[in-house]
Amino acid sequence: MKNTLTIALSKGRIFKETLPMLAHAGITPVDDPETSRKLILDTNRDDVKLVIIRASDVPTYVQYGAAEIGVAGKDVLMEHGGEGLYEPVDLKIAQCRLMVAGIPDKDSGNRRTRIATKYVNSTRRYYAEQGKQVEVIKLYGSMELAPIVGLADKIVDVVDTGNTLKANGLVPMEHIADISSRLIVNKAAMKMQSARIKEFIQLIEEAVSAS
Ligand code: ATP
Ligand code: PRP
Repeated sequence: MKNTLTIALSKGRIFKETLPMLAHAGITPVDDPETSRKLILDTNRDDVKLVIIRASDVPTYVQYGAAEIGVAGKDVLMEHGGEGLYEPVDLKIAQCRLMVAGIPDKDSGNRRTRIATKYVNSTRRYYAEQGKQVEVIKLYGSMELAPIVGLADKIVDVVDTGNTLKANGLVPMEHIADISSRLIVNKAAMKMQSARIKEFIQLIEEAVSAS
């Protein structure tokens, strides 16, 4: 049986907001990912390691068992599809909304509406459910720019305060989903390391209730 528990996290808001919950589970990283160049972080426990990866790669690492556990935004999980994963805890961190946004009072005329997004699968699914045919353009970031320069009519992106939309002359138009980060667990690991992972989940649930 594999002895080490590997937890996949992304830098930034998810790492920062997960830290107190890990502390409640008795886990403290030895290095700070914001200053260290290391991708595998030791913790105070010999049997627990953290891997620091792109937010959108977390479900893939956990799906394939490269990490037993991870923390990922629901936006990222919706896009990934969730294959091979359990999603046992809503951590209620990194909360935002997945939305359609655009320039007010602007329409695409007779042409099919173009939507720029990094959430290609979720966007296709959303418009298919609406029975609307749209053209989806894949971007990797700075989606707000696309309608301004005429690359797209609208965007699908996460919105929190709305400040980024506002600063770029865009308005929120349609709400697709409420988003928060979830604890995810590899399905096979949940069986193979059941006792240990269930104990970890319980401690994380306690930390969520306390916060
Ligand atoms: P990647 O590096 O893979 O492109 P990213 O840059 O979106 O990912 P983060 O900005 O760290 O990664 O966001 C991680 C998660 O936090 C997102 O998947 C989303 O669930 C949530 N999130 C993103 N932006 C906000 C925001 N402005 N406010 C609150 N939560 C957010
Ligand atoms: C996300 C998202 C939006 C912004 C929305 O980007 O892609 O651009 O946050 O947040 P707001 O509604 O509060 O403006 P990113 O992860 O780059 O945001 P950050 O600047 O908050 O880190």
